[in-house]
Order: sequence, then C-alpha cells, then structure tokens
Amino acid sequence: MSKKLFIKTFGCAMNTRDSDHIIAELKEKENYSLTENAKEADLIILNTCSVREKPERKLFSEIGIYANIKKPNAKIGICGCTASALGAEIIKKAPSVDFVLGARNVSKITNIIKNPKAVEVEINYDESNYEFCMNTESNIRALINISIGCDKKCSYCIVPHTRGKEISIPLEMILKEAEIRVKNGAKEIILLGQNVNNYGARFSTPPKTTDKKINFTYLLQEISKIKEIKRIKFVSPHPLHMDDEFIEEFARNEKIVKYIHMPLQSGSNKVLKDMKRGYSREWFLDRVNKIKSLCPNVGIGTDIIVAFPNENENDFYDTLEIVKEVEFDTMYSFIYSPRKDTLAFHLKEIDSKIATNRLEILQNLHKQILEKKAKNEINKIHKVMIENIKDTMSEGRSDNGRVIKIQNKKLNLGEIYNVVITNNENGSLFGSLVNV
Ligand code: 5AD
Ligand code: SF4
Repeated sequence: MSKKLFIKTFGCAMNTRDSDHIIAELKEKENYSLTENAKEADLIILNTCSVREKPERKLFSEIGIYANIKKPNAKIGICGCTASALGAEIIKKAPSVDFVLGARNVSKITNIIKNPKAVEVEINYDESNYEFCMNTESNIRALINISIGCDKKCSYCIVPHTRGKEISIPLEMILKEAEIRVKNGAKEIILLGQNVNNYGARFSTPPKTTDKKINFTYLLQEISKIKEIKRIKFVSPHPLHMDDEFIEEFARNEKIVKYIHMPLQSGSNKVLKDMKRGYSREWFLDRVNKIKSLCPNVGIGTDIIVAFPNENENDFYDTLEIVKEVEFDTMYSFIYSPRKDTLAFHLKEIDSKIATNRLEILQNLHKQILEKKAKNEINKIHKVMIENIKDTMSEGRSDNGRVIKIQNKKLNLGEIYNVVITNNENGSLFGSLVNV
C-alpha cells in the first residue's frame, strides 16, 4: 500500500513549483500518494515562506497543530525559505520536526526523509541540472522553473539569503520539459524565476556556442515555437531588465499573455535608492509607457512596500502619484517588515500607526482605480481561456490577465473563446460568448 503525503504550501509560485517537484519525486520514487487529510498522513510537509515576518512566526504554531493531530509514527518535514533561513534552529525550537530541507535543495527530498533529524539548507546548492520527476497528471497550466535564486541585493529582501545566487536552468532542459508538459495536456506555460527576465546571466555549465545570445527574449522565442502551446506567462520580471528588445518581443509575440507584473516597491527615488532597486521612477514610467504604447490593452500588476525606513510624507506621495498615473490592474501592498540578514534590518522602523495609515490610503486609492477600470470594461471583447468549469459558471482568464466568469455549460477546458463583458459585480467581471 502506498504511503500518504500531506503537503501545505505557503508563499509564491516558486514554492508551488517546489511542492510539485517534491510531490512528483515522492510519488515516483518512494510510492507516496497525496492526501488532503493530515491526520492520515505518514509524512507531513510544510513548504514555508519567509518574505515577511508574520508567516515565519506562524510556522511554529502550525507545527504545533500538526504535531498534535498526526499519526504516532508520522514524520514532519519543514521545507522552503524559512527552512533555509532558520535551519537547525527549527528542530531545536520544535523537536517534533523530523527534517529541515531548504529551498533549492529540493532534489534531496528522497534522501532526507530517511535521515532522522537531517538538516539540508546549503544556500548555493546547484540543482540547475537536476531532472526532477514530473507530475504527469494533465493540467492545462504548467509551471516551469527557468532559474534558481537571485543576485540582487534589495535591502529589504530575505530571498537572496534563502534561495542563494542566481543560476539559469539550461535552455534544452526547459524546452524538453515544456514539450513533455504539452504532451500531457498543458496549454499554458508559466515560466518561473525570481528575476525571470535576467535569464541567461549565469549557467552552471556555460552553454555550447550558438549564434544568438541566450537571454530571456530568446527563451520566449524558442518556447513559443512549440506549436501546441497557446499561452505563455512569466513571473516575476524585474523592471531593471525590461530592455527594448524584451518589451518588443512581449508586444509582438501573440502567445505571450499581455499581462505583466512590474514590482515597483516605491515611487520615490530616494526610497528606491535606499532599497537598492537599481532603477528610478523615471525609468519605471518610461518602461510602462513603452509597454502601453505597444500594447494598449496590457494589464499591469505591481508590488508596493509602504513605510520603508526614512520614507517621509513626500516619498509616500510620490508612490500615490505613480499609482494614479499607471493605474495598475493588480496591486499587492505590504507594510515594510524588517528581516534579519538584510541590509535594511538595522534601520529605524517607522511608527506602526503611520505605516498602517499609509497602507490604508494606498489601498483605498487602488480600490477606486479598480472600480473605474471595471466600469470601462463593459462591452469590451476579450479572448478568454477557460481554466475552471463549474456547474453553472465557468471561469477563464482574458489575454490581459483578467478573471472573467461566463454562464455557459458547453465550454471546454483550455479552449480560447471570444467573450464580451456584460457586467461587473463587486469587482468581478461577467461575460458571454460572441462571434467576431
Ligand atoms: N517587507 C515587506 N514586504 C516585502 N516584500 C519582500 N520583502 C519584504 C519585506 N521585508 C514584498 C515585495 C516583494 C513581494 C514578493 O513581497 O513587495 O515584491
Ligand atoms: Fe516567500 Fe520569497 Fe521564498 Fe517565495 S522566494 S517562498 S516569496 S521568501
């Protein structure tokens, strides 16, 4: 009989992909099957995130919960970024934990489950050439890692400390994985990396010489040659690496979804400099304007941190101004959270009431922007790929990243339809099929 694996994933798409790898390796090589009930699991894995302070604190209470409900001989493993950041400290603080496996050490999963109390958190472990088992279940979406780690030194960010230096995965491996995933039913490829558009900056083994430079634009061109792929997405690009060549490919290539995440972080040049982001507000706006001029219907998303140390009212105002000007379609916003081992850790924090107030002002502004934008959507026609079929309502995504609900029972998963937006209820868009 197969053993049962329960896995809970926190954080970003990279972590989701790491969990997929863990599941596939344990299924194929160790005869595990997945369960959603932790009480019947033989192995409980928490794949953690450490980007902000709260989830890290929450980890120990989560471990307590699972330690209480697990079967007597079941093991608990902690993986992901908090595993990298805290290492052996986790087992010291929570003795019910059996092993700690850091991000970018995922390929060691089948060994570590056999080593009681093992801690594997090698920060620069190179698994860029490791061929992971693949989940063969058909899924219209395929997440594919294209690089590991991050070379940037943004002063607030723990990621370079948990996922180590940046290494790109060889082009042939990415293309091979995309081909296999497509054969298994994928229609949409999502390329993943901490700085996807810095692809090709460093390989573990230098690639054989080709005429063209292997960079992100080239990778996009090669991936889009795979006939059966209908859509290509990527997360997360860095505004600094959005050169003209990349933006022109983004606009020209019909398979690339016209939605782009552009993590701004702050609209103030002073704060951007303190954050060591490497670009100015002028550069960011110039890139946005170039993208908008080439793709007028583009959807743009962003991340913003408020109350970074020394952010004054004027700096915050600069952020509000840029948010008004760009009119982001999605915005993830956070209060700055000091992280140990980062450059900004020792800087004085801003009063928490001021921070909460700034976050509220920013989020209210964005809500107004979204309401205005949703009204403007009525009667627009989008190409929508169906991602979810439910009893009465199906859900899909437009070619510029919007979720659209459609009342029609005869839709096929992974198929693209022309849909006109008919109404907007509380920010949700509804539409019906049209012939164009
Ligand atoms: N405090 C608050 N937000 C942070 N982020 C990353 N580090 C921190 C931090 N220390 C946010 C950034 C990033 C997103 C994934 O999380 O906006 O883009
Ligand atoms: Fe969280 Fe960042 Fe790690 Fe993703 S890479 S899991 S966001 S800390």
